[in-house]
Amino acid sequence: MTPGNQHALERILGERGSLPLAPEQSEKLQWTIVVDAEPAGWVSLDVTSRDHHIGSVGYALAPPFHGRGLASGALRHVIGIAFDPDQLRLERLEAVAAVGNVASRRVLEKCGFRCEGVATGLLIIDDQRVDHARYELMRFNTAT
Ligand SMILES: CC(C)(COP(=O)(O)OP(=O)(O)OC[C@H]1O[C@@H](n2cnc3c(N)ncnc32)[C@H](O)[C@@H]1OP(=O)(O)O)[C@@H](O)C(=O)NCCC(=O)NCCS
Repeated sequence: MTPGNQHALERILGERGSLPLAPEQSEKLQWTIVVDAEPAGWVSLDVTSRDHHIGSVGYALAPPFHGRGLASGALRHVIGIAFDPDQLRLERLEAVAAVGNVASRRVLEKCGFRCEGVATGLLIIDDQRVDHARYELMRFNTAT
């Protein structure tokens, strides 16, 4: 990509990112976590059921950015957008984390998510079926 094209893309994404989100939004949303103008990771929110006001969240950071509270900070921000009646108006958020992924589970728990149980062999990671803890956060259990 030429520098001119990259500049245009950054401008378009910047403009798109500042558009308000509406309660009828039903696509997958993804935000980039930027630290000192460098992309550090992402956090996503998929509206899995508009009828039932349910969304699913995910996140990841590049290794140099681990352990600084970035994922939990970014997730808290997205929870605010998800439950805001003037933005996504969701009522239930869901997430999964590999049972042994202590950092990811801690991120969810720090943000108020509650573990609902373990889904056996839910996802394939490195060619192995891995058990995942399922988490939920209900809007009525938050201060929003
Ligand atoms: C999971 C991930 C997003 C966490 O991001 P992060 O910004 O480092 O997370 P935070 O700093 O907000 O919080 C991490 C918490 O886990 C804790 N933690 C991390 N590794 C741990 C370990 N091995 N044992 C116990 N606690 C651990 C930290 O101490 C911190 O908790 P604290 O604030 O109470 O001390 C990041 O490690 C990552 O991108 N991993 C690879 C991709 C991934 O696993 N994505 C999630 C898929 S479900």
